[in-house]
Amino acid sequence: MEDILVWEVCQHFESRHSSACTQEEVNKIFESAKAAQKLWAKVPLWKRAEALHKAAALLKEHKAPMAECLVKEVAKPAKDAVSEVVRSGDLISYTAEEGVRILSEGKFLVSDSFPGNERNKLCLSSKIPLGVVLAIPPFNYPVNLAVSKISPALIAGNAVVLKPPTQGAVAGLHMVHCFHLAGFPKGLLSCVTGKGSEIGDFLTMHPGVNCISFTGGDTGIAISKKASMVPLQMELGGKDACIVLEDADLDLAAANVVKGGYSYSGQRCTAVKVVLAIESIADELVSKVNAKIAKLTVGLPENNADITAVVSESSANFIEGLVEDAKEKGATFCQEYRREGNLIWPLLVDHVRPGMRLAWEEPFGPVLPVIRISTAEEGIHHCNANNFALQGCVFTRDINKAILISNAMETGTVQINSAPARGPDHFPFQGLRDSGIGSQGITNSINMMTKVKSTVINLP
Ligand code: G3P
Repeated sequence: MEDILVWEVCQHFESRHSSACTQEEVNKIFESAKAAQKLWAKVPLWKRAEALHKAAALLKEHKAPMAECLVKEVAKPAKDAVSEVVRSGDLISYTAEEGVRILSEGKFLVSDSFPGNERNKLCLSSKIPLGVVLAIPPFNYPVNLAVSKISPALIAGNAVVLKPPTQGAVAGLHMVHCFHLAGFPKGLLSCVTGKGSEIGDFLTMHPGVNCISFTGGDTGIAISKKASMVPLQMELGGKDACIVLEDADLDLAAANVVKGGYSYSGQRCTAVKVVLAIESIADELVSKVNAKIAKLTVGLPENNADITAVVSESSANFIEGLVEDAKEKGATFCQEYRREGNLIWPLLVDHVRPGMRLAWEEPFGPVLPVIRISTAEEGIHHCNANNFALQGCVFTRDINKAILISNAMETGTVQINSAPARGPDHFPFQGLRDSGIGSQGITNSINMMTKVKSTVINLP
């Protein structure tokens, strides 16, 4: 079965002779999507859910070849690659269940509750699909973040055009193939491959698009300026702050700083990207973090190394630029900076100050700055002064203080005594300011990919 899957994906590429779609092909894809959506919207909700459950099962059944692609395409450690696919199967099933629950509910209103009206109008409203959803996931979760857009769109009766990331496209095609094997018509869910820089504008400004769900870098800001009047769901990265107070459990904080900062080599929007530690405990925290960093393995994703090569040379160069800037401006390096090609060894940079780029910019790599602060307010101020506002976390044994700090941090989510994370996938997930538009998570995504339609019965 796995061989058949790999063969069919290869056929997809060979039949095109090139892995990049032309504008004519894109036009045809949108035409087919529009036609398929009209039919799909008429398929009963329970049947749509049934098809999603099938796709979830197939995805899990084919986890091995998909995980193998993730290892080879985006250097995801083998264990994490398998978890990504399994998590995606669970996400699809949950979406099917949640879709049945929330899309079967409508609203019934009578008119005489509004001043000046008699009870002669009855309003029935329900949720209907938007049409064609353009889904653009990033390289770091080419399966999971694709599925988190595709499944809510499909259960709500939409068609989907998926633009997989250039690196991660093969894993994405495997995943789409599972949906097709589950019975979803090809026109209903299709893939447009090609470089974002070449085909991005054509896609996002295409008149056939009725909704855009994008996860990625600041390209999202450009998309939101160019897109026409369609609902947008955007997640554009973060600079998640980790505030560690004097009464924190420092072993717990250190474990979360390392897990949050270095898993998948820091290439997660929700990675810990700056540690704000109260001066009195900073030395102890830094030494605990360093002890854990020393145990991280560096190498190949096939061998399940903790730290693997970052996604591209330009990404590695960008990270190096941040490191050099911090060095020149007098930061303390806790480890020697080491890079071979795109492989960068984990680095903790202490005594970072606000004048350094590393204090504000997102490395998307295994490099983590520590800023020493005198008060929690200073940490909150640093967090709120950044244009990124995805998540953040605070470590303290005082729950009252934690809640007050969470209220004061102007960011999408604050985790108390744990590293930032998007999951579980049904939790609301949103970025403020330059980190995004709208809220994701299964329920919010289903709602976002629908519009309200009313019918009013006028009684004589
Ligand atoms: O980087 C994208 C963001 O969605 C991260 O997700 O699950 O690693 O917290 P997660």
